[in-house]
Amino acid sequence: MSDGLIYVIFFHILGAVIWIGGMIAVRFAVHPALQHIDEDMTRLARTLEITGRLFGLVFPFIVILIATGLYLAHTFGFSGHTKLSKIVHLKEAIWLVMTLNYAGMVYVRFKAQSYYLASNFLMAKKFLTPIAKYMLPLNIFLGMLAIYFGLVLRGF
Ligand code: HEM
Repeated sequence: MSDGLIYVIFFHILGAVIWIGGMIAVRFAVHPALQHIDEDMTRLARTLEITGRLFGLVFPFIVILIATGLYLAHTFGFSGHTKLSKIVHLKEAIWLVMTLNYAGMVYVRFKAQSYYLASNFLMAKKFLTPIAKYMLPLNIFLGMLAIYFGLVLRGF
C-alpha cells in the first residue's frame, strides 16, 4: 500500500470517529446531564450552544468521509456490479441519509434558536426534542452500519 493511501484511510476513519463519536458523546453523556438544569432558559441556551458546536465540528468531517470514501472505492477498483461495489453503493446511500438527517437537525436547531431568541421557550423545546429522541439515534445507528460495511470492504 502506498504511503499516501494510508493518509486517505486515516482521514476516512478519523471522519467516522469524530462524526459518530461526537453524536454518541452528546446524546448519551451531555444530553442526560443537561436535563438536571431545571430552569428552561438556561437549559435551552446550553442545549443550543452544544448542538451548534457539535454540528459545526462534524461538518468538515462529513465532507471528508465522502471524499475519502469515493477515492478509496476508485483506488481499490470497487466498480461495476461486483458484491463489493454493491457495498460501496450501500455506504453511499447510508452517507446520503445521514447527511440529509444532519441537514434536518441543523434546520430544526435553527428554528429552535429563532424561537428561543423570541423568548418562546415552549416552541424552542418542541423543535429541539426530536434531535435527541429520533434524529441523533438514527444517525448513530446508521453510522455504526457504515463502520461495519467499511470493515466488510476491508476484508477484515
Ligand atoms: C457514514 C459514513 C461512513 C463511515 C462511518 C465509514 C467508515 C468506514 C470505516 C470505519 C472503514 C474501515 C477502514 C479500514 O479498516 O481500513 C471504512 C472503509 C471503507 N469505506 Fe467507509 N465510511 C463511510 C462512508 C463511506 C462512503 C460514502 C464510501 C464510498 C463512497 C466509503 C468507502 C469505503 C471504502 C472503499 C473502504 C475500504 C477501505 C480499505 O479497504 O481500507 N465509505 N469506512
